[in-house]
Amino acid sequence: MKTLSIVGLQWGDEGKGKITDTLAARFDYVVRYQGGNNAGHTLYVNGKKVVLHLLPSGVIHPHTINVLGNGMVINLEALEKEYHELMPQHLLISNRAHLVFPFHAWLDKQNESNAKDKIGTTLKGIGPTYQSKTARLGIRVGSLLHIETFRKELKVLASHYQVPFDADAYIDALLPFIEEIRSRIVDTSFVLYHAIQEGKRVLFEGAQGVMLDLDHGTYPYVTSSHPTPASIPVDVGIPASFIKDSMGIVKAYTTRVGEGPFPTEILGPLADRIREVGKEYGATTGRPRRIGYLDMTSLKHAIRVSGATALTITLLDVLSGVDTLKISTAYTLQGKTIDTVPSQVETLKAVQPVYESFEGWHEDISQVRNVEDLPKEAKIYLRFIEQSLQVPIRYISVGPNRSQIIKKRGWFHD
Ligand code: GDP
Ligand code: IMO
Ligand code: MG
Repeated sequence: MKTLSIVGLQWGDEGKGKITDTLAARFDYVVRYQGGNNAGHTLYVNGKKVVLHLLPSGVIHPHTINVLGNGMVINLEALEKEYHELMPQHLLISNRAHLVFPFHAWLDKQNESNAKDKIGTTLKGIGPTYQSKTARLGIRVGSLLHIETFRKELKVLASHYQVPFDADAYIDALLPFIEEIRSRIVDTSFVLYHAIQEGKRVLFEGAQGVMLDLDHGTYPYVTSSHPTPASIPVDVGIPASFIKDSMGIVKAYTTRVGEGPFPTEILGPLADRIREVGKEYGATTGRPRRIGYLDMTSLKHAIRVSGATALTITLLDVLSGVDTLKISTAYTLQGKTIDTVPSQVETLKAVQPVYESFEGWHEDISQVRNVEDLPKEAKIYLRFIEQSLQVPIRYISVGPNRSQIIKKRGWFHD
């Protein structure tokens, strides 16, 4: 089976876009399977920055077929913008994916401004759209193929939410784009099933990260979909047996954007330094990302629920110059050591991380391409991660560009 899934093992923004773009050269298809334009995936191609919110990160390669799966929620105005910027040669859109409308974003804002405890969503209407879907009120991409039916459906949906909304004006403004993408709206389950049967190579690109998963993340401070590879069969429409290998992406430290518990959060000058060096500002909302040390308890949890079979460590270069690094190896709660993530957010807020300290390194590692050339302190740091997680590190990313990557063998097992 020639499939691989890319999954973020923290709270998103692990560098999934860069790794997907880098690996896409060896794949025939790149598939986004969940989420919507809450995602922001950043690539640098020939020094030019590209931020993708909906299009898969294979889109820069001329040969890859890029697919938006049925588990996604698609904002047509956002897709139009990205589509016209990049003019993807090969793009297929699932006729079963759900559509995000302006009133979903409006509801997202209402929910956040009325909430006592805000989630800190991206305000893109993602939660309300998945609510429409599970309430069986939603409108799917396939409806765009029959404009007059679409008009009726949209009026019914808007009236359900009792939000003033001019459905005709909305649709009329989008008509040229809908015409433009008409031939790309297909049954992507059928296409991918047969492609995989024929031995084509398919890369699945997750959005967000396991700690934002609706079930397995820090609920309720999560997104409304399932970023774990376990959701791919449903979110794409292929058998579970087609999904075996999963590349877990782990930032060399931790970030989180939005509210919610973050046991290893760092406050103060070290966090500010990492934020500036790592350019840790949301790719979708521009919000400063919260910064923390690596957290083995949450990573072990994420690996267990995602089944990551290999790891990529990203942004290692950002840590150059930090005198002392720390990794949390467990939590304590009321004097007891625990090594699992509590399900209740109040309990998770109360845990204290147990830290192990590591000497940092000061060399610029952004030009290193061979693992043996890394400073010895960086090797000790990486080896500790690999051994405590018991999953081999395959790649180490040392900069935002495609070429800034180290392929690693040995150490653990091959
Ligand atoms: P994604 O959502 O997982 O695709 O990650 P984002 O694109 O939101 O955030 C990752 C950020 O780190 C982006 O600005 C990338 O350009 C950048 N990046 C990715 N890998 C590296 C790396 O190894 N080193 C550095 N310095 N930046 C990286
Ligand atoms: P990528 O794919 C980081 C966070 C939001 C908020 C929570 C719920 O770039 O890693 P939502 O708008 O989804 O209802 O917000 O999830 N969030 C992300 N954080 N990276 C993302 O995507 C995110 N997508 C959503 O900040 O805490
Ligand atoms: Mg991102």
